[in-house]
Amino acid sequence: MSRLIVVSNRVSAPKDPAAGSAGGLAMALSAALRTYDGLWFGWSGETIETFTGEAKIEDRAGVTVALVDLEPQDVDEYYNGYANKTLWPLFHHRLDLTAYERSYGEGYERVNQRFAEVLAPMLEPDDIIWVHDYHLIPMARDLRRLGVTNRIGFFLHTPWPVRQLLVTLPHHRRLVESLFAYDLIGFQTEEWLDLFRDYVISEARGELAGDNGLEAFGRKVCVGVYPIGIDVEDFMGARDSPAGLRTYDRMAASSAFRSMMVGVDRLDYSKGLEERMLGYEQFLHDNAELRGDVFLVQVTPISRDDVDTYQDIRARLDALAGRINGEYADMDWQPIRYLNRGYRRDQLAGIYRAARVGLVTPLRDGMNLVAKEYVAAQNPDDPGVLILSRFAGAAEQMGEALLVNPFSREELSDAIKTALTMPREERIRKWTALMKVVRDTDVAIWRDDFVQALRSIEVADDGDRPLHHQPRADAA
Ligand code: G6P
Repeated sequence: MSRLIVVSNRVSAPKDPAAGSAGGLAMALSAALRTYDGLWFGWSGETIETFTGEAKIEDRAGVTVALVDLEPQDVDEYYNGYANKTLWPLFHHRLDLTAYERSYGEGYERVNQRFAEVLAPMLEPDDIIWVHDYHLIPMARDLRRLGVTNRIGFFLHTPWPVRQLLVTLPHHRRLVESLFAYDLIGFQTEEWLDLFRDYVISEARGELAGDNGLEAFGRKVCVGVYPIGIDVEDFMGARDSPAGLRTYDRMAASSAFRSMMVGVDRLDYSKGLEERMLGYEQFLHDNAELRGDVFLVQVTPISRDDVDTYQDIRARLDALAGRINGEYADMDWQPIRYLNRGYRRDQLAGIYRAARVGLVTPLRDGMNLVAKEYVAAQNPDDPGVLILSRFAGAAEQMGEALLVNPFSREELSDAIKTALTMPREERIRKWTALMKVVRDTDVAIWRDDFVQALRSIEVADDGDRPLHHQPRADAA
């Protein structure tokens, strides 16, 4: 069996999988890498004065990882710059926060090339390469320039933006053209794939090629929808572990006679945290009789703190949480517990289970796995209610949640009230349907479907690709 090579900006293979801090994606990819004797390649998270052109090889619980140190200027221009000040806000439709600086684009190209130059000599002819996320869009093009003919797939974890916004990016064509060096491009939802197709057809004068192909820039590529999920069994195990149960008890005790709502999000403007707090404030204002019966635990670890837009949103949330607590709190009750820290998976599972309502209200999100984790953590006999933004990729599958428009405070406020007063039978009915979705889109299914589709793409012996881009008939 050929090896699997995973490439991503962050290499999250856990050193100690039993410690419970790794997410489902990290665990699922690590498991595949153990099975296929693979390699996980990416940035070490460290800087070095002068780029060495070499990767440091480590073993992490049976997974081989290859880590590259970057120069401070690289981190500034590629990671903080193009990835997080240009592509991230643009792909999340925040044109107002998108910075277009030439040096960022140059740093992005440079780091992708550097990664390709370090990875290329490590490859064997049969390897299947799977590149992840917006940091590394041009990676396949750079590998091809170095003569790499292996099958290469790309999965975008974020949304794809509408064409009318994407064209504001200088060199947008070059970025999209570089995607055509892949053999397979995967998206989280039909909606993101449709937007990609729209760009290719309307802007790049491309054409559909069969059911699952696109032709443009003189090349064909396979495209598909692969909704990511969680490791359901593992998450339920974490929930039922001693630490999960202890956390549940702790939270249940601290919410005696009150209903707890929970939000868990990186501190990011795409997560709609301000809008969520404002919607909750509206609810407190409109429902004086329910006020003291509910509280919100908002778990929000700091993220990308070197980027000014993240510092701004952090300051605004600090002020907003303070204002709401100052306005409404009583001597024995505080409406928001705002926590700028992360918790382990088992602890989160316990927190979710104790929460009557899960609030997942991003303004735009590739998928959002908190929605799936919240559902998986519930007690089937007395489940909580998921309030889900219609703009999260997860909403495409999880229509049984209370879907909301997070831009509307009134709608959020109404949904909170509906969730808090929903009869048990209805909660059970909704949860049963949602849990089926969570199981049907388990992370192992996502991983295996993508790898199988990539593996089954035909490539001529000489690596020639123009006509090969149909999965083989035997591909499941
Ligand atoms: C999103 C992105 C991931 C990224 C994660 C954390 O989920 O899709 O690629 O790793 O955020 O962000 P960070 O910048 O800390 O890696």
